[in-house]
Amino acid sequence: MKNFAKKDELQQYLAKLRADGAVITFVPTLGALHQGHLSLIQQAQQLGNVVVCSIFVNPTQFNDPKDLEKYPRPIQDDIRKLEQVNCDVLFNPDVPEMYANNEKWHLDIGELESLLEGKFRPGHYQGVTQVVYKLFDIVKPDIALFGQKDYQQVLVIQKMVDLLKLPVKLVMCPIVREPDGLAMSSRNVHLSTDDRKRALILSKTLNRIKQQFTPDRIGQLQQEAIVAINNEPGVTLAYFEIADGETLHPANKNTKKFAALVAATVGKTRLIDNVIISD
Ligand code: PAF
Repeated sequence: MKNFAKKDELQQYLAKLRADGAVITFVPTLGALHQGHLSLIQQAQQLGNVVVCSIFVNPTQFNDPKDLEKYPRPIQDDIRKLEQVNCDVLFNPDVPEMYANNEKWHLDIGELESLLEGKFRPGHYQGVTQVVYKLFDIVKPDIALFGQKDYQQVLVIQKMVDLLKLPVKLVMCPIVREPDGLAMSSRNVHLSTDDRKRALILSKTLNRIKQQFTPDRIGQLQQEAIVAINNEPGVTLAYFEIADGETLHPANKNTKKFAALVAATVGKTRLIDNVIISD
């Protein structure tokens, strides 16, 4: 695997491959890679000739400095995992390589910025669009792959791609789960043994809602889900919403694509999860 820390060197390398007709696929990450990320790399391998993975803990998307500080950064482990799945290129820049001092960024992504995750993490999606825009500009991928676990993030990035007419196709890949249903996340390492068991209430509740869903029961099912999660000791619910899967507005009977999304703090760890109920 080629490993670049400097954007100019990466760009020169990719320009040659592109000139030879390579289709470049891209998996941007914050590192602390798990099977979910590796499955994105594997899907990227099916879609193109050269897979680029970036590992960059982007400071502008962390609204809580403590969260940024404690974000896991096992870079040697990550490199080993990428090599095991035959990733072609790693881009692993430091902060000065990505940001000049006091850079300003604002993109009007409408209500997606303030709904659900946006409400609880002000500025988060501005930081995400800022860094993904930069990464797309450096890598110039034909296809970029993102995990469904950050469902709202995929909608936000698609909105940016549409608004700025960026020449990249986005692919959303299914959530990868532990055998007991917990959505894989870099944050799971912070869960104590007890919290790990308690966290299962999120995927279990989402599953139940999906199984029992009918459009005339939205309010009732949502209420039942909120009660079930609130009843789990050590779990503090931020939101549970049955939403329109395209706008993330609360769903109603006329909604076409339904998704249920949840965020909760388990012990001290904030987790998100979701399920697409119908396409
Ligand atoms: O989902 C993530 O890992 C990050 O938000 C991303 C897309 C790599 C941007 O920093």
